[in-house]
Amino acid sequence: MTIQFELNGRLVEANAAPGTTLLEYLRDEEVHSVKHGCDHGECGACTVLMDNKSVNACLILMYTVNGRKIETLESFSTHKELHPLQKDFLHEGAAQCGFCTPGMILSLEALDREDGATDEATIRDALNGNLCRCTGYVKPVKAALATLQQSSRTGGDA
Ligand code: FES
Ligand code: FES
Repeated sequence: MTIQFELNGRLVEANAAPGTTLLEYLRDEEVHSVKHGCDHGECGACTVLMDNKSVNACLILMYTVNGRKIETLESFSTHKELHPLQKDFLHEGAAQCGFCTPGMILSLEALDREDGATDEATIRDALNGNLCRCTGYVKPVKAALATLQQSSRTGGDA
């Protein structure tokens, strides 16, 4: 089965066997920010953006990706500087082992693109599907508040 889609700003053509998930494809393509965690939509370690919404790549079959826009954390590395969310995570010490961090950042990026509320409750809700065993969420939420409130003030990207 041949699928065409946009991956991190590049048009790609993928050959995938029926039943292949987007997570399996991305890991095979060495897109290492996307983590293989529970494989059941529970942990959020495989979070990617699909048409600007955060989704669990382990639950997405490749044939449904045809014509879509997929973004992973690697898409941020084309910028000269760290993305503001990355900067604030770094500044707050919000990553420990880091396994959950790419997924958290993409969930927060999706929230920012929705242009919704940026209060603590909304941020905690956006991170609801991203399990973290290390941080207790206090520092990630603080980092997210710093970035998203700044973004809503300036009207720019997070
Ligand atoms: S690996 Fe996809 S949600 Fe856990
Ligand atoms: S920083 Fe270790 S799981 Fe979140």
